[in-house]
Amino acid sequence: LSKEQADEVRHAWDKVKHNEVEILHEIFKAHPDIQNKFPQFAGKDLEQIKSNSDFSTHATRIVSFITENLSLAGNPDLLPAIKTRVNEMGQNHRNRGVTKEQFNEFRSTLTDYVKHHSSLDGDAEHAWNQAFDNVFFIIFSNL
Ligand code: HEM
Repeated sequence: LSKEQADEVRHAWDKVKHNEVEILHEIFKAHPDIQNKFPQFAGKDLEQIKSNSDFSTHATRIVSFITENLSLAGNPDLLPAIKTRVNEMGQNHRNRGVTKEQFNEFRSTLTDYVKHHSSLDGDAEHAWNQAFDNVFFIIFSNL
């Protein structure tokens, strides 16, 4: 991403990144198959686990992973650092049996969420899609 594109994505993300629990809730609600990959959440009532500390801890991990990578985006010198982190995440998730389809489901629900809660259109939407294409290319090479 260019510096400008990274700023656009960061700007959109800044408006939703504090809604960690709501974001994970939306993803599990739309895709129970993702929830069921988590040993601690599988088969449980989503509305009940939503208020557990386990749930918010995990929601924060996912959101922080995105926030941290975005803080490095738009600077060519920091690209190797992003690649290392994303490759490692891809390996971890392959070991857990997470599929490309599930990553795509995650992406689609998250993108809808950001669209509804932030100003993601035009150049910013294009930059957002580019960012996910780049990251998913790396993740998928590990699955
Ligand atoms: C950890 C599943 C997508 C970030 C985990 C864990 C599971 C899991 C089972 C271990 C949880 C634990 O033991 O407490 C999935 C599934 C996904 C998915 C089914 C399907 C889309 C993502 C995405 C991100 C992400 C898209 C980041 C944007 C993380 C992080 C951890 C984690 C940061 C903790 C660090 C680690 O152990 O790798 N995930 N995940 N996950 N996930 Fe995911």
